[in-house]
Amino acid sequence: MHKSVLVTGASSGIGEATAVHLAHQGFKVFAAARRLEKLQDLAGLAHNRIHPVAMDVTDETSIANALDTVGEEGGALYGLVNNAGVSVLGPAERVPTKEWRRQFETNLFGLMNVTRAVLPQMREAGVGRIVNIGSVTGRIAAPFQGVYAASKHAVEGISDALRRELRPHGVKVSVIRPGFVNTPFGEQEQQALARYLDDEVYGDQVRIFKQWHARGHPSAPPPTIVAEAVLKALTAARPQSRYTVPEKMLGFLALRNTAPSALTDRIFERVTGLNAIQEKGNAS
Ligand SMILES: NC(=O)c1ccc[n+]([C@@H]2O[C@H](COP(=O)([O-])OP(=O)(O)OC[C@H]3O[C@@H](n4cnc5c(N)ncnc54)[C@H](OP(=O)(O)O)[C@@H]3O)[C@@H](O)[C@H]2O)c1
Repeated sequence: MHKSVLVTGASSGIGEATAVHLAHQGFKVFAAARRLEKLQDLAGLAHNRIHPVAMDVTDETSIANALDTVGEEGGALYGLVNNAGVSVLGPAERVPTKEWRRQFETNLFGLMNVTRAVLPQMREAGVGRIVNIGSVTGRIAAPFQGVYAASKHAVEGISDALRRELRPHGVKVSVIRPGFVNTPFGEQEQQALARYLDDEVYGDQVRIFKQWHARGHPSAPPPTIVAEAVLKALTAARPQSRYTVPEKMLGFLALRNTAPSALTDRIFERVTGLNAIQEKGNAS
């Protein structure tokens, strides 16, 4: 009997790699996303253990329909991997409210929409795993990633609360915190940053940050690194509350937790090249 797992955002990048990896490891995988045609490409892989399901995580009717399909295909869900996400980048002052809402509708409310929909069956079974794909950005907010970072900080917070609420009900909750991973996400972020290159206030900073970002994504590890961490969270007898990948990012997080902000701010500026921008004198 193969355990069933629902992976959201499985039409690309980390979600796709996770769906394939879990299916190879013996899970029956329900691979969900809006672009059903992309998911169909996965259907023949990994011993036909991947089942495409159309789902928009921001639409509760779409989620209900998708879970009906999962039920019809015999998938009493053991695991949920909340991976679907978008990234809204730009100077926090400039990003329009509509874009802030789009960010949170997917990364936070979408995550909770799907979680709420699957929890009753997991609680009744007295067993289940929820794996939320957060980000290192859920602990450290880089400049021009503020909107995205806020959504991933929220994922950290809700995951802590869920883990504590659900432990007595047999449902375990983990967060995976990837650093840069080489997926189509990087190109979307580049396009988002490009909108602000001509900004009269922030344009120069965004240009430098964008160049640093462009160097980071293509040289980043492949999405399988995240898929392996998800597998651990789904199969460990006692899953960790957090898995940070690649592990070298742990040093960065330790610095964030222990060093004064003045120091980490200077490190950020050095690493990104933003130290080239002169700070304006404080007139007061
Ligand atoms: N790549 C990185 O460097 C990185 C680092 C840290 C964390 N992460 C996180 O990892 C997750 C996956 O990112 P990725 O790099 O794999 O990006 P990606 O290749 O752009 O994939 C994003 C996935 O999310 C799905 N999605 C977006 N909006 C959706 C919605 N409303 N309903 C359902 N599915 C939706 C997309 O599918 P459809 O468009 O077909 O719906 C797609 O499958 C995200 O949560 C991201 O924040 C990524």
